[in-house]
Order: sequence, then structure tokens, then C-alpha cells
Amino acid sequence: MLNLAPYAAPNATDWKAPAGSSGATDFHRSLPGYGQSALVEVPTLAARLGVAHLYVKDESSRLGLPAFKILGASWAIARAVGERAGLDPSELTLPALIAQIDESGVKAFIAATDGNHGRAVARMAKLLGRPAFIFIPDGVTQAAQDAIKSEGATVIHVPGSYDGAVESANAQALAQPGALLIQDTSWEGYQDIPAWIVEGYQTLCVEIDEQLGRAPTVVVVPVGVGSLAEGVTRYYRGDSSYAPALLSVEPEVAACLLESLHAGVLTSVETYTSIMAGLNCGTPSASAWPILQHGITGAVAVSEEDAALAVHELNALGVDSGPCGGATLAGTRNALADPELRAALGIDSSSTVVLINTEGFSANPLPEESA
Ligand SMILES: Cc1ncc(COP(=O)(O)O)c(C=O)c1O
Repeated sequence: MLNLAPYAAPNATDWKAPAGSSGATDFHRSLPGYGQSALVEVPTLAARLGVAHLYVKDESSRLGLPAFKILGASWAIARAVGERAGLDPSELTLPALIAQIDESGVKAFIAATDGNHGRAVARMAKLLGRPAFIFIPDGVTQAAQDAIKSEGATVIHVPGSYDGAVESANAQALAQPGALLIQDTSWEGYQDIPAWIVEGYQTLCVEIDEQLGRAPTVVVVPVGVGSLAEGVTRYYRGDSSYAPALLSVEPEVAACLLESLHAGVLTSVETYTSIMAGLNCGTPSASAWPILQHGITGAVAVSEEDAALAVHELNALGVDSGPCGGATLAGTRNALADPELRAALGIDSSSTVVLINTEGFSANPLPEESA
């Protein structure tokens, strides 16, 4: 029986993550089309939640794609190709990678995805002139598949869950000479690329600090395998001068981090279909788990209905948000309704809440029946 009760760890803000800044943000700044994603204040939502300030970090338009994922995929591909071509990490730019791709020996990129990560890998592959093979589980919408194909990638459907698609992608990468697996989750023996992906995600936190210029009370992050949350936690328990509370949000049907936090050990859960496709993962990333176990202040799960309602609410307020972004609003409400978690997060009427809206509506539209 899954434990979907809210989880609270009031002392998590005292924990320090292992040091580690990277050159990811400088690399991102060098990419054509780079600009900080908007940090939008939404006073109406702040009033509805009973806090002083509510900001949405809006990843609905990031380097030309409707989700944050390219921050991780681009830096991991840069590091992996650069390493194989003998480039120093400080020299990594898109033109340098294009010039050295033959030298690197990388002939193709492979990834498993529930949508956004695969499209980001496919976009980078296209920029580098290499084919991409993207493995998808059940439940990835036709629109998401078409978006991946629009980047020139081949989409391979693996019947079953996300975890199964990851296994198939890995098997293909091992069998295909010159193919490089760019996966946003880690397991024993596969750690470098996921670690670079996590570094890449931290650019959005660097931007939040620059844009806000002060400490948020709480940052709310949606969780699939937890790599984004790992990046956010490493940053706010490491490089940042601020130490906000951190709240993770997952679908009730795929709450693998919540279950792991309650159990005190990395735990897999069975998954079902979810409108929050990007969060529909049954196993936390191995590298994310110890960081999240120590650094996350609170964790909640949200229902499909509440996530859909939150998407409507955000879009009605002018925030372009898909279900993974909507989950953060629904999750904040669940957290506020739980006295113990609310206290652990330190939320009161003077607080500043930042929601990480990880995708725009077009990245993952609601199915007809819940739209
Ligand atoms: C839009 C969106 N938000 C959040 C996530 C969760 O990221 P992670 O799997 O690193 O927890 C994903 C993952 O695919 C996603 O696509």
C-alpha cells in the first residue's frame, strides 16, 4: 500500500550538498537564442494562496522549445562530445562542437523519454548533424511524438512503462557502434551523463537568484525521476547564497520519490497513465536519491483532477502552463493544507513562493476529456 501522505523534513535547509559548480550556465549563454526564462509575479495567485509573493519561473519557451529539458540535454551532449573530441569544458560552444563532432566518433544520439527530454535530445542531434533515436513508453501523446519527429528524429514505441523504455534505449545504445545514450536518469554504471544533465538544469536556479535578488521562502519543483529536483537541491544546498525550503510534487499515480522518502530507501512504484506525462516515472534516479533524501524539505502528491484544474487556473491568469507546471500549483495547495508540512516549509502571509513551471501547454496539452 503506497503512502501518499505529505512528507516533511524541517531541518533539510541546514544540509549542505557536495560542492560543484560547472560551466553549464556560460555554455548556455553562448547558445544561439539563449535568454533568461521569465520569472513572472502573479499577485492574484499569491492572494489566493495567502502569501505575499508568488512567482512562476516560466520554462514554456526555453531555447526555442516549450520545456526546460534542453538545459540538461544540451550541456550533457556538449560535455560528452567535447570529452570524446578532447575539448576542455571551458571551450565548449555550439560551433566548437559542430567542428569536432566527426573527431568525437559520435554517430548517433539515443534517449528514452515521455516527451520533452527526447525532443531536446533530438534538437541537439539535429544541430550537430547526427541522427537521433528516441524511445517512448505508452501514453506519450501523438502531439508529443510529432514534436520529436519534427526535429528529424526516429521515434520507437516500447509498449509498457517509462522504465521499460529506458531499458530498451540503453540496450540499443550498447548494441549500436558510435551511439551515445543521453539519459536523464542514472543507475549503477551510468552516471556521468545524468550528472551533466543535472548541472545543466541548475542554470534556471542561477537565473532565479539573479532575477529575484533575494531568498524565496520555498521553491516548488515537479518530480519525475528527480533529476531536476536534484539540480535544484544541489544548487540551493550548495552554490546559492540562499537556502529556501524545497517542495517536491509528483502525480499520485507515480509518487516514487514520496514513497522513497517515507520508506527511507530508494523505492520503485508501479505507474499508471497520467496527464503529467513528464512526471510519470516509477523509480527515482540513483544519483538524485541521496541528495533529495537530505535536501528536500517537503514532498506531496497530486491527483490528476487537481493538476488539470491548476493548468486551467494558470492559463486563465496568463501563465502558459502544461500539466507538469500545473502540478506545482496543485502541490503547493496540498502542502499549505497540511499543518506540519506548512510549518516545515516556513510558509506564512509574508512568504515568497516560486513555482517552477517546467513546460508550456503546447508541450503536453491536456487530453480532451480533462481540457
Ligand atoms: C515538463 C517536465 N517537468 C518536469 C519533469 C521532471 O523532471 P525529472 O524527471 O528530472 O524529475 C519532466 C521530465 O521529463 C518534464 O518533462
